[in-house]
Amino acid sequence: MSKDAAKIKYPLPLQLKQTINMIKEFESAKEILSEIESTQPTTAAELEAFRIKYLGSKNIIKPLFAQMGKIEPAERKNYGLLLNELKTTAEEKFKQIQDSLNSDKSREKKTTPDLTAPPGTLEKGARHPVDIVMNRVISIFQKIGFTLSDDREIEDDWHNFTAMNTPEDHPARDMQDTYYLKDLEGMLLRTHTSSVQARVMTQTQPPIRIIAPGRVYRNETISARSHCQFHQVEGLYIDTDVSFADLKQTLLHYAREMYGPDARIRLRPSYFPFTEPSAEVDVYWGLESETDYRITKGTGWLEIMGCGMVDPQVLENCGIDPKKYSGFAFGMGIERQALLQYRIEDIRWLFENDVRFLRQFHSAI
Ligand code: PHE
Repeated sequence: MSKDAAKIKYPLPLQLKQTINMIKEFESAKEILSEIESTQPTTAAELEAFRIKYLGSKNIIKPLFAQMGKIEPAERKNYGLLLNELKTTAEEKFKQIQDSLNSDKSREKKTTPDLTAPPGTLEKGARHPVDIVMNRVISIFQKIGFTLSDDREIEDDWHNFTAMNTPEDHPARDMQDTYYLKDLEGMLLRTHTSSVQARVMTQTQPPIRIIAPGRVYRNETISARSHCQFHQVEGLYIDTDVSFADLKQTLLHYAREMYGPDARIRLRPSYFPFTEPSAEVDVYWGLESETDYRITKGTGWLEIMGCGMVDPQVLENCGIDPKKYSGFAFGMGIERQALLQYRIEDIRWLFENDVRFLRQFHSAI
C-alpha cells in the first residue's frame, strides 16, 4: 500500500495528502521495528552501533515522535503506541544482549586463563617497626631463660598502683596521667607493664623469670616525641640472692645483643615507687654526626628504660617473702628504641598505619 501511495503524484487534495503522510509514518515505524527485531549484535562493537542507532541521542526513532502532529487525531494514539513499542523493543534487546555479552566475558575469564600472561607480583607484607623491635627484645630475653607473660590492658587500680607501692595519696600517681574507665569503678588502662609484675607475683612463687610485652596508655599530649599509647617490655626476676650486679649484667647482655658487641650502658640513679634502689639506663649512641647530637641532646647517651631492685614492700604486697627472696625489674620503652634504630623522626608515624611508611620495614622476625 505504501508503494501505491508513494506513486501518487502531487498536488493532491489535502485529506488524501494527510492519509498518505500518515501511512508513510506508520510504515517507516513498522520498518524500523522489524529492523530492530531482526538485528542480532554479537560483539560489543556491534551492540554499541545498535545502541547509537536506536537509543543514542540522535537515534532514528526520535524524528518519528516529531511527526506526531501530522498524524490524524484519530490515529495518533495508535501511532504513539507503535513508537513506544519501538523504543521498548530496542531497549529490551539492548539490555538482553548486553547481559549475555557480559556473562560470556566472565565465563571466558573463569574458564580460560591466559597462560601466556606474565605472573602478577604478590606484594610482600612488612612487619610493623614496633613489632620488629619488640620481637627482638623478646627473643633476646627468651634465650637467657625468661618466659613470656601476657596480661590485660584494662587493669584495676590495685595491680597498676597499690600493689606497686603507689597508694592513692602517693605523689607518684601524679607522675602518670591515667585513663580511668568511667563506667568501670576502679578500672583503668594500665599506665605501665609493671602491673603484670603484680599479676605474676600474686599467682606464682619464685623463682620467677618473666618478660611482659604489651601496650600501655598515658593521658599525654600527642607530639613528635610522645604519644598517649605506646609499648613496653617489662622484665622481672625473683629468686634467692638476686643482686644489683645480676641486674646490671643482664642489661649489659641485652644492650650487646640489641646494639652490637661494643654496646655500652650506664645506670643513673633514679626513683620509682616499686624499686629500691632505682636507676635509669642509657645506651651509648655515639656523638659523631649532627643527628647523634640531636638524638642524644648532645650527650651521646640515650635513655631506654627504668629499672631497679624490687622493693621488699612490693614483694610483701604480692605474697612473696622479702626475707627469703629478692629480685630485679626493668621496664623498657619500645617506640623509643624503634625511633632510634630506624632514625624515625616522629613517633606518630608509628600509629598512623600509612602503608608508604610501613612498606619500608623488612625483617626475618
Ligand atoms: N614502670 C616504669 C615506667 O613505666 C619502668 C620501670 C619498670 C621501672 C620496672 C623500674 C622497674 O616508667
